[in-house]
Amino acid sequence: MTQPKSPPSKSHGRKAVRPTLTPQPLMTDTPDLHDVWRASVITLFPEMFPGVLGGSLTGRALKDGKWQLDTVHLRDFGEGRHRNVDDTPAGGGAGMVLRADIMGRAIEHALRKGPGPLIYLSPRGRRFDQAMARSLATTPGAIFICGRFEGLDQRVIEHYGITEVSLGDFVMTGGELAAQAVIDATVRLLPGVLGNEASAEEESFSNGLLEHPHYTKPADWHGHKIPDVLLSGHHGEIAKWRQAQSEAITRARRPDLWEAWLAQQG
Ligand SMILES: C[S@@+](CC[C@H](N)C(=O)[O-])C[C@H]1O[C@@H](n2cnc3c(N)ncnc32)[C@H](O)[C@@H]1O
Repeated sequence: MTQPKSPPSKSHGRKAVRPTLTPQPLMTDTPDLHDVWRASVITLFPEMFPGVLGGSLTGRALKDGKWQLDTVHLRDFGEGRHRNVDDTPAGGGAGMVLRADIMGRAIEHALRKGPGPLIYLSPRGRRFDQAMARSLATTPGAIFICGRFEGLDQRVIEHYGITEVSLGDFVMTGGELAAQAVIDATVRLLPGVLGNEASAEEESFSNGLLEHPHYTKPADWHGHKIPDVLLSGHHGEIAKWRQAQSEAITRARRPDLWEAWLAQQG
């Protein structure tokens, strides 16, 4: 079989970026950037990174050294000829479990590279939300543990006081997608990452409400018109309309957020 041709590289002004399946030169193995938020990811699939984090705003910010990313390959800490990292569950049952001793060595290695809370992406964890992203953005960085198979030996979770974080009530095959989602949501809150800082202040969850709808050109699309108030140029009326929309959407779609917002208003 012939290898597919690599797509042409694109210039983003600072550095040429070529989509590739191999780990990106954007990522560093050495903590050479001081005072820069760092994500260390323990994974059996380091080639999955930076993944989506290498594109768009997060990718540009990574290139510009506004945050840093490295992976710790769990397989490097495995045992035997095949560098095994998992074994059968104690007590029997289906699947395999990631071994505590092997994950422990990977965690020690990651902790030597940089500090930060230890986060295990897990469907049993606390549901990830914007408040968690905001809180993570105030840390020096975090170590993300991506599970596979049936997950991680419980003893390593308790020994290191690892926080379990879930992306939602569904089960994926591994923690890598979840880690990228959490890192993306956090990195965009770091200073200087979003071009327009105001947009992070106005978007969904920032004030406890879902965001109002957006419109742009054309003014009339298939007979659907942009609400008149948005074309009025009256900033006070526009702000009032957007607030009312935000409240109505939150009330209809997310009664939990709506109740919390009402309570906050006193
Ligand atoms: C097949 S899952 C293991 C599911 C586990 N046996 C359970 O029932 O809770 C393998 C790995 O995928 C990741 N994962 C799956 N779903 C996830 C979710 N909703 N949020 C975060 N991580 C998830 C975790 O790292 C997990 O260890």
